[in-house]
Parts: sequence; C-alpha cells; structure tokens
Amino acid sequence: MDWPVAIAKGWHPVASLDEISSRRPHAARLMGQPLVLFRSGDRVTVLRDRCPHRGAPLSHGRMTNGAITCPYHGWRFDSEGRCIEVPGAAVCPSVSASVLPVRVEVGLVWTCLAETPPPFPTLPDAMRDADLDRFWWRLAPSEAGLLDALENHLDPAHPHFVHPWLVRPPDRRHPVSVAVRSGEWGAEAVYFEHRRNTALLSAVMEGSRARSIGRLWPPTIGEVRLESARGAMLSIVVVFTPVDVGVTRPWAHFASTRSWLPAIVKELALKAFHWPVLQQDRRMLRLQERNRTRERYATGPLDVLARPIWQHANGLPCPEEETRLEMSL
Ligand code: FES
Ligand SMILES: [Fe+2]
Repeated sequence: MDWPVAIAKGWHPVASLDEISSRRPHAARLMGQPLVLFRSGDRVTVLRDRCPHRGAPLSHGRMTNGAITCPYHGWRFDSEGRCIEVPGAAVCPSVSASVLPVRVEVGLVWTCLAETPPPFPTLPDAMRDADLDRFWWRLAPSEAGLLDALENHLDPAHPHFVHPWLVRPPDRRHPVSVAVRSGEWGAEAVYFEHRRNTALLSAVMEGSRARSIGRLWPPTIGEVRLESARGAMLSIVVVFTPVDVGVTRPWAHFASTRSWLPAIVKELALKAFHWPVLQQDRRMLRLQERNRTRERYATGPLDVLARPIWQHANGLPCPEEETRLEMSL
C-alpha cells in the first residue's frame, strides 16, 4: 500500500514507555513493518524485527545485559543494533540489525521509518500542561483506516446517528456557529453552541458548554476540547498510529482542569462514558473499512476539517485560510 507521504515518513508512537523493559523484548508493528523494542539502562532501542543473519524475529528472543539475543542461532545485538556475539565463534561479522530513530515524548515511544526523519510533530499543549489532571487510556488497535479514524474523532456530524443520546440527541438539532481556520500549523474548527446540548455526555461531564474545538495537529493527531462557561476544560487527544493497512491504534490522552473531583474518579467516569461511544465508533469504522474501494470520498458541508486532514497527510501545501459558517448540530 502507498501510505500518504507525511504518514509514510512521519513519527509515530509504537509503544507506551512503561511497556518497554530490559527483561524482555516488546514486539510492535508500524505500517506493516514488524518492530522490536527494548531498553538498556535509560536508553530505548527500536529495531526492525528481523535478525540480519537468517531473518528470524528478534522479538521472540531474550534480553541479557541490555542486549537482545536472536532465538535462532543466538547472535546478540546491542542497543545500537551491532552484532556483539556469535555463539561458538571467537569473532563477530560486522553486521547490524536495522535500528530506527527513537524519541520518547509524553510517555510514548515514537519512531519513524523514513531514511531522514522529519521534524518531530508539534504536540497539543494539554499533553504537557502540568496543572491538568491527565491519564492515558490504553486501547488496542482496531480495524479502521488511519485517516478515517482521525476524521471520525474530529467529525461533528456523526454523533446524532452513531451515538444517539450519548453525545447528541438523535432527533433534535440546534444552530451552531463554526469558525474554521487552517494553515501549515494544522487546522481547527471552533463550535459556538447557543443552546445547551441535552445528550448525556454533555449534561454530565460539562455543565453548560461555552464552546468546543476540534483540532488537527498534523499529520495524525486529533484533539477535541470542550470548554465550559465556568472555565473548566476537557481535552481528548488521540494520536493515531498506522499499524497496518486497515488497522489503526489510537493512543487516547485525557486532560482536564483540576476540580474538587479526585483525578481517579474523573478517570473512571470518563472511561465509563466513553466506553460505549468508543464501541459505536469502532463498529462504524470497521464497516467503513470493509466497504473500502479506491474511489475518493465526497466532501459535504459539515466535513469542515476533511480537506486539511487530507492535505497534511499527503504533504500538500496548506495555505492560511479562515471561514465562518452555520450548521445545525
Ligand atoms: S537468524 Fe538470528 S542468529 Fe540466525
Ligand atoms: Fe464518534
């Protein structure tokens, strides 16, 4: 498959830092490529999961003293991928396992398949703001196209149909003004709601909503930010990893303004509310994926972030643009 160029060359998270240990290798997958991750001291190493000797998967091997041993003939590779031991021989050939670049950011291990890695993507401020309550929700990969999943997270038009009563009432809409901006930095749609949303999620989690924002942090990060009239804020950032064709892993990060509610109570409540929502989205993304053809999608009047998502993924110029529109949500 030809991945859109900014995705093919981009930085992607492949593991959570706390999954990586010096005791056993961790297998991961990125755009169909098997990878193996391990730790030696403070250093995290990402290798292609293929021994240069006869191609056995290194992730089936074991770790000793910060080096990984291949399960087939026992060649050992250090944290820079160099072969440091061939059992039964006094010397090692000068070969290396293929090492990929690594960045550890916001508790995730990121890597890149490009020869020359691009600059690291800008991450949403809410991921680094020390004054917020936060948690990562660890979710398994699911059957979904990468850009479909990203767009789904930022799409205001499906909740009436896919999440009736949970996110939006199915049969009632009210006018919303939307300010859309896009540029090389990404894109955002700011929704100003004039009336209170009566669906369960809004009623319980937000009180009265002042505005909500859907923001693209290119190329693969979507943030939904809900701001209440009283100044409370909930940010849901999802980083989408292209695991394979039609398989996407979401890394969901929730951050919210501190309140009298203990962080753990908020975490449990947010997970409880979002669990059914997530299942509903996964079901629709799965149906969409199984129905895929090579035809391009049509863009409708409510698909306000579709174009910048596509432009950024494909490395196309995204000139500064600003529009205002009215819709009913
Ligand atoms: S295949 Fe890895 S040591 Fe032979
Ligand atoms: Fe949804």
